[in-house]
Amino acid sequence: MEQQKRYGHFDDQHREYVITDPQTPWPWINYLGNEDFFSLISNTAGGYSFYKDAKFRRITRYRYNNVPMDNGGRYFYIKDGDTVWNPGWKPCKTPLDFYECRHGMSYTRITGRKNGVEASVLFFVPLKKWAEVQKLTLKNESKEVKQLKLFSFEEWCLWNAATDMENFQRNFSTGEVEIEGSTIYHKTEYRERRNHYAFYHVNAPIQGFDTDRETFVGLYNEFADPQAVMEGKPRNSHAHGWSPIASHYIEITLQPGESKDFVFLLGYIENEQDEKFEAPQVINKKKAHALIAELDTTEKVDKAFAELCALWDNLLNIYKVRTGNDKLDRMVNIWNQYQCMVTFNFSRSASFFESGVGRGMGFRDSNQDLVGFVHQIPPRARQRIIDIASTQFPDGGCYHQYQPLTKRGNNDIGGGFNDDPCWLIFGTVAYIKETGDFSILDEMVPFDNQPGTEVTLFEHLKISMDHVIKNLGPHMLPLIGRADWNDCLNLNCFSWDPNESFQTTENVSEGTKAESLMIAGLFVVTGKDYVALCKKLGKADEAARMQQAVDAMIEAVKKHGWDGEWYLRAYDFYGRKIGSNECDEAKIFIESQGWCTMAEIGAEDGLVAKSLDSCKKYLECEHGMVLNNPAFTKYIYEYGEISSYPEGYKENAGIFCHNNPWVIIGECLAGRGNDAWSHYAKILPSYVEEKYQTLHKVEPYVNCQMVAGKDAFRPGEGKNSWLTGTAAWMWYTVSEFILGIKPDYDGIRIDPCLPETAGDYTVKRKFRDADYEITIHPNGAQKGVKQVILDGQPIDGTVIPYSPGKHVVEATM
Ligand code: BGC
Ligand code: NOJ
Repeated sequence: MEQQKRYGHFDDQHREYVITDPQTPWPWINYLGNEDFFSLISNTAGGYSFYKDAKFRRITRYRYNNVPMDNGGRYFYIKDGDTVWNPGWKPCKTPLDFYECRHGMSYTRITGRKNGVEASVLFFVPLKKWAEVQKLTLKNESKEVKQLKLFSFEEWCLWNAATDMENFQRNFSTGEVEIEGSTIYHKTEYRERRNHYAFYHVNAPIQGFDTDRETFVGLYNEFADPQAVMEGKPRNSHAHGWSPIASHYIEITLQPGESKDFVFLLGYIENEQDEKFEAPQVINKKKAHALIAELDTTEKVDKAFAELCALWDNLLNIYKVRTGNDKLDRMVNIWNQYQCMVTFNFSRSASFFESGVGRGMGFRDSNQDLVGFVHQIPPRARQRIIDIASTQFPDGGCYHQYQPLTKRGNNDIGGGFNDDPCWLIFGTVAYIKETGDFSILDEMVPFDNQPGTEVTLFEHLKISMDHVIKNLGPHMLPLIGRADWNDCLNLNCFSWDPNESFQTTENVSEGTKAESLMIAGLFVVTGKDYVALCKKLGKADEAARMQQAVDAMIEAVKKHGWDGEWYLRAYDFYGRKIGSNECDEAKIFIESQGWCTMAEIGAEDGLVAKSLDSCKKYLECEHGMVLNNPAFTKYIYEYGEISSYPEGYKENAGIFCHNNPWVIIGECLAGRGNDAWSHYAKILPSYVEEKYQTLHKVEPYVNCQMVAGKDAFRPGEGKNSWLTGTAAWMWYTVSEFILGIKPDYDGIRIDPCLPETAGDYTVKRKFRDADYEITIHPNGAQKGVKQVILDGQPIDGTVIPYSPGKHVVEATM
């Protein structure tokens, strides 16, 4: 058999993915930064940086959909005699003697070797600093003295990434820079309303520089052969308008065996309005000097890097499993948790599939992301909940997205997605269960960020539930609004105008009968949580009121939401069934199977088991479960965007990885461990790593949003990697439902659901101020814990009561 080509491998000891061939099937990227200052970096050092908001504070420029793909980034050009090369291979693409890219936890290290010189660059954002460090180590491994010419390169973005791509009649005249020693400052628009500038510094004397792109590159050259570099001569250009860049030029002599470090720093500074200038037209550089001074030696940078690594040691020590199965352990202990942190930070804003200008923080997305992250830094999850709730309207509806910089609801998209409110309960309950911090419910939170409108967070939860109850349709099922979780099921949209966005165009909601079974299931799941919370708070009346609504919803689903073998998906504007055996296409959808089985609606009558079996029968394929089956083959005016996609892609019968875990949880609740595991393993990156190398194409260390489904032209192709709710749902599924370690108000519930082949395993779990070491003995069972022994004493039931300190737990199934 032909040996399959490989582009890299996992290095679990260092928590890295090691890429050994720069020509990956698609750029394989990583994220730098934990708060405020962020960067995206590909395996060839492509990408860009921004401060807080990928749209409004873009620091460096990046061109999406470029030719070649992934063109532009932070580049080091090394001119050694006549040879010019880059450690990350691009953009010169000079063949290297050695190439390696190690993507780790919030850092990336790229190493190249050419003609006896090794160049290794460590990229990271130090904790609490608004800067990206690029520590370049050059080493002469040859027997000759090397005279090298080094050129750095960054291209400035004119801050607003959207207008930067459009408004050239203005942009070409606004660019401004200052050069001071080894620092190049970018100060476009600082003369007027901006109170921020950026800089690119190196901790060594420079022998030249460039700040004007065309002068450096040459109008008829490219990043691959900039004129200044090819000739080995910087132009010392000073940008006035056009396209400002930053390039340092350094001449370096290396004796045989000698190595030298250079610390490059890309920084961002904000000044108070009255402290902006130190002299007319001259920016106040005090803060920049201070930031540079904190990171201007190898020792300081190494220390900052050690702090970053220590942070990740701590974060990944909170939940650690040892099953003996490396493929599972590495996803649970490293990559799944890492991806959760990234999605928490970025929501769906900036990736190589999300341009950073279109979408801010999603209301539903951020609540789901929180569940993947809350155990790591609960205070940030707390703040996030408050931020999200502050964009709610007094009637319980909410902005679908908000901008991270302003935290204001995004008017371009508005509201009206009727699943949104429920997710606030989902996120808040997860936070309280993890932390025991009920005080969050008393926080005063405004509506639509309007001062003076504050009510308690609990009140926000209440109106969220009420929003569903007050928006029921003819079958007493929730009205869908613009869309539910499936943004593309636009049942009130009716669009024939290709210039309209399905998401934002005016909806016809007067007289609509469009109802969602997905929201029905979501309402029952979150409603039960809400009822339990109310009881916990001693609000018996409110608990009883909501229990009634939940019961009524369950009845409505049983009566109007069951199709015989599976749950219906929806009713359309006219009250006709969607996702029914009676339909010509898309007879069955995954979302309602997931939510109604998680809600266990009709379990006593066998509905849950039938629905789960139907998922296996109709939705499952080699690469996972598709969203609907069969795919739509034509545009349906009454359904909107879902039917706009070609068969097998995205919301039209793609494997939308995000919703596979819903069914897996349904399987777990039903105690079907073998089925749960087989669905899970199909979309677990480490299990299908081989496939990633050629078929999936995208990064093998994270989940992608969508894998092309069985009806697609190329089934199995992955797309939209990194920023997807899949991360949090995979985490929630494996940590709580498969491995069975569930935070609860009063302790940790132990309730695994495993394949019958599972062996003993141990989870180390920090929980509030306690450390639990929990060993599970499955004994071939798929479900059902028979006995729990806490510190040598058997306990009643399966909830380990919380108490601070170290505890050893044994659970036998
Ligand atoms: C995509 C959805 C996405 C939506 C957001 C659609 O085109 O298919 O996955 O949620 O856009 O605006
Ligand atoms: C991606 C969006 O970010 C998310 O909010 C939505 O639920 C899914 N697509 C499905 O449409």
